[in-house]
Parts: sequence; structure tokens; C-alpha cells
Amino acid sequence: MKNPLNFLKPACIPQEGPLPFSFFVHFRHQVKDDVALFWKPLRRIPENWYRKLLSSLNIPALRWSKVKLNGGTSLGRLDLIPLNASLMLEKGRKEMTARINKDIDRLVKKGTRVVGLGALTAPMTKGGLNLAHRTDVCLTNGNAFTAVIMHQAIERIIRQKGMLAPRIAVVGASGSVGSCVCRLLARDMSTDELLLVARNKNRLEKLANTLKKNAVQVEISDQIADVKSADIVVLLTASADCLLKSEHLRQGAVVLDGTQPRNTHPSLLQERPDVSIIDGGLVEIPGVHLHGGSMGLGKNTYFACFSETLLLAFEGRKEHFCLGNPSLEQADYIHDLAKKYQAFGFQLAPFSSFGQSVRLIRSISHAQTFTKAA
Ligand SMILES: NC(=O)c1ccc[n+]([C@@H]2O[C@H](COP(=O)([O-])OP(=O)(O)OC[C@H]3O[C@@H](n4cnc5c(N)ncnc54)[C@H](OP(=O)(O)O)[C@@H]3O)[C@@H](O)[C@H]2O)c1
Repeated sequence: MKNPLNFLKPACIPQEGPLPFSFFVHFRHQVKDDVALFWKPLRRIPENWYRKLLSSLNIPALRWSKVKLNGGTSLGRLDLIPLNASLMLEKGRKEMTARINKDIDRLVKKGTRVVGLGALTAPMTKGGLNLAHRTDVCLTNGNAFTAVIMHQAIERIIRQKGMLAPRIAVVGASGSVGSCVCRLLARDMSTDELLLVARNKNRLEKLANTLKKNAVQVEISDQIADVKSADIVVLLTASADCLLKSEHLRQGAVVLDGTQPRNTHPSLLQERPDVSIIDGGLVEIPGVHLHGGSMGLGKNTYFACFSETLLLAFEGRKEHFCLGNPSLEQADYIHDLAKKYQAFGFQLAPFSSFGQSVRLIRSISHAQTFTKAA
């Protein structure tokens, strides 16, 4: 098929690329908050009306926005699954996989060649493994680049805070993103001490055994309360109800929250002004923009899983990329692609906390170190 984007040829983009792509998004918390972005009065409709309607109607994914290069060239689209996180979790993996599969059928007919499984659409399809049989499209869950960006954020926290040998807890360590972050931390010796947290201890044990080959001390726990021993707490669960609480955190801890829906609430900052909470998994791409619905992020800021999809589309990738847990090789490959296309951005975004720009201040005691940027 003739590539409709072939007239766009900055030197770094190979012959095959860019391919038209689609990236799945969904409503996050309250449906009424997201729809009110288009028309404010829609917020007045009670949330449970939206829930009943969307749960029963089985509406196919609809285009949320176009993704364009600055200058106007269309690259791809965001497609919205009209459910929020809790409705998707209620429906379960089987039903959601079938729905997403049908949505991809429709998108492929419209010319989509690369599909990114954004936010909860990845965990709901077993990291995309449930869709691996497809051969008509390149699929990715975006988790390799998410792991790379989370790892870069942890290293930036360590640098900015001047931490010498931080103890790092990863909640959701056995998951797709979490396991790759742990492997990167262990391989690159970013820390001496790792605490792996999730509910299933067998999976944690297996991961811990692979990490111990590096000179890192690894402990496991199925209790979130144990993160109290950590200087840095990394959140990567796929659960809406694993909320991090004030009593879980040590004095001056830094939390890097990569979860969607989030496992931290802004009230935590009021309760614990000594603690810093950084928004995780965010990438700066000033070279592109969205035309239509937003991702609810700051200017030039995108989710890392979206960025991975865009990188694969630029590269003209036809085979699946990251399904299930990313390997270190995939993390290194996508990191190299980000460097190749750095003219468009693809850098770790400046730190923010619940969307507000922030900076960490170097401190040996790690106390009272979080200030709002001017
Ligand atoms: N910013 C981005 O671009 C981006 C990209 C991709 C993913 N994400 C987010 O990253 C998170 C992880 O995604 P994933 O694909 O890695 O998910 P996943 O593969 O399903 O892994 C989830 C992990 O969380 C653990 N977990 C689940 N519920 C828990 C609970 N109640 N308490 C403690 N641990 C729990 C799971 O282990 P057990 O089942 O054993 O507990 C597993 O280790 C999600 O929130 C996703 O939205 C963000």
C-alpha cells in the first residue's frame, strides 16, 4: 500500500516510515470531567448516568484527536475507548480484549499500521499478548519506553537529591513496566538496595532471583506498608485501589508515581509536606501536537507509551514490538530510537507533581526538600 505520509522525509526517517498509527486512550476517573473539557454543562450530568450508559451501550472506540507534526503533517490519531478505568476493570480482560480487537479491525481498515495500547488497554489485554495473533498491524504496549523513562526519572531524582545509596521500593515490581524498571536499576547499578512489592510473592521471588545476579541487595514484600523503609518509592501497579497513604512513607521520601489511574492523591502532599510526589512516565515531544482532545497533560508533554508508538511509526516498524514484559534489549532499542529522533524531542519531561511544575532540592537529610518552581 502507498504510504500516505511519504512526502514527509526528514533525513532521520527511513524509507518505510512514518506509518499511520493509532494510540488507545480511555476516560480516566470521572467520565463527566473528561467530557466537560468539550462542553462544560456536561459535568452536571450525574456520574452514575454516564456509567450506566457507557457500560451497557458497548460503543466502539472513537477518534479523540489527530496527532500532527508541527507544520501540520498528520501522523496518526488518538482513539478513545468510551469507558473509564474502573468500568474497564469491572468488565475484565476477556471482554475488553474482544472489544479492543474489534476496534483494531476498524482502524486497520482505515489505514492504521501501528497500534499503541495506551493506559489500561495494555494490562486488560495481558500487555497485548492476547492480541499477538494479529499480523496486519504492529502492536506495542509502550512499556519498554515507559520503563526507560521511569528509570531516567529515578536517576534524575537520585542526582538532584544528592542521594548516595538510596533504598528504592518498586510497587508493582513484577508487572510489565515494573519488572523492566527493576532490571534497568539492577543492571545500571542505580541503587544497592531494592525492595520489590506486589501481591503475588512467587512472581516477585522469580524476579528477585534474576536481579541478584547483579550486585544488588533485593528484598520482596506483599505489604505496601513495607515501602516505609525506602528513600524512593516507585508506583507501577495496575490497580485503582492500591492508594499510597501518609503512614506508608518515611520522612523526606520521594514518590515517583507512574500509575494510571493514579495511586497517589494530592491530599498526601498536605498531610506530608516533607514528601515529594513526582508524576512518572512523562515525555517531552515539542515536535508534535494534538489536534482535538488532549491527554490532560502539560504543553509538549505525552505519556511514554504514546511516545513509543510514535517512535515505532517513525521507524516504519511492521512487526509487533513490546507485548508482555519488555526485555532489556527492547528497552535499549527504543532508547536508541529516541536518540535517533531527538530532533522531535523524546526526552524525559521536566518534573511535575499533579501537573504543577516542581523541582527537587539537593539535601542530605531529605527533609523539607520540595518546592514549587517559580
Ligand atoms: N505513563 C505511561 O506512559 C504508562 C505506560 C504504561 C503503563 N503505565 C501505567 O503503569 C502501570 C503498570 O502497568 P503494567 O502494564 O506494568 O501493569 P501490569 O503488567 O498489570 O503490572 C501490574 C503490577 O502491579 C501489581 N499489582 C496489581 N495490583 C496491586 C495491588 N493492589 N497492590 C500491589 N501490587 C499490585 C501486579 O502484581 P500482583 O498482581 O502480583 O499484585 C504487577 O506487579 C499502570 O498503572 C499503567 O497505567 C503508564
